[in-house]
Amino acid sequence: MWNKVQETVNFLKNKGIKAPDFGVILGTGLGNLVDKIDIRIAIPYEEILNFPVSTVEGHSGELIYGKIGDKTIIAMRGRFHYYEGWTMQETVFPVRVMKYLGVEKLIVSNASGGVNPNFKVGDIMVITDHINMMPEHPLNGKNDERFGPRFVDMHEAYSKAMISKMDIVAKKLDIKIHKGIYLALQGPTFETPAEYKMVKILGADTVGMSTVPEVIVAKHMGMECFGISVITDLGIEGLVEEVSHEEVQKVAKISEKVVGKLVEEFVKL
Ligand code: HPA
Repeated sequence: MWNKVQETVNFLKNKGIKAPDFGVILGTGLGNLVDKIDIRIAIPYEEILNFPVSTVEGHSGELIYGKIGDKTIIAMRGRFHYYEGWTMQETVFPVRVMKYLGVEKLIVSNASGGVNPNFKVGDIMVITDHINMMPEHPLNGKNDERFGPRFVDMHEAYSKAMISKMDIVAKKLDIKIHKGIYLALQGPTFETPAEYKMVKILGADTVGMSTVPEVIVAKHMGMECFGISVITDLGIEGLVEEVSHEEVQKVAKISEKVVGKLVEEFVKL
């Protein structure tokens, strides 16, 4: 893994990518966040040495390097979901690469189902913590100390400083944001009403199928993480309705303008 990561890092450095200030993972339907980036380099995943290639409809795969204001950004347009059949190692590979390109701050976005009764479809939640209920752990197996320690501290998986900074940005832009806990399940099924109830009982506010593996690996390597989630559907008892990938994308597309504005101002600050 170490050698593969370094090979990809060298490959990308040779393409002109230099120490970005932020790494960004753009989730379902949030890909248009790239509109805020003054793009200098864009490379389809299939052209990147050692990169997995994304297949799911609506998840275009491209690594984008550019500027927002005076900050340099490397963004993944489309991510690797465990449910697509990638191993956990493949799922988190780009985060490892970002770290060795020089990224210290990671911003992750996703779509999720809300189980908190105060949430509405289209709302935005800043992730303050997570519950990992994925069936496999990205750090399972022999630990490579060059990446990080065997036992990783997770007491502040989501950076309090970055959350405070987003509070300032949201206030300035007069955008209402929730804060809460994201629980990760493997998918690809959405939850049954009983499962949504379980998610709530376990103490989470939203449920989704991504983000947690990437954040775990980022923490393994000592990165600071920030996560933001668009509530695309509700799993609230008595209110659980039919949900489809199309619906999730439609809602995410409407909210992405707001998330885009938040993240744009956030990185500039
Ligand atoms: N459950 C899991 N993943 C999701 C959901 C959901 O309700 N909505 C968007 N991604």
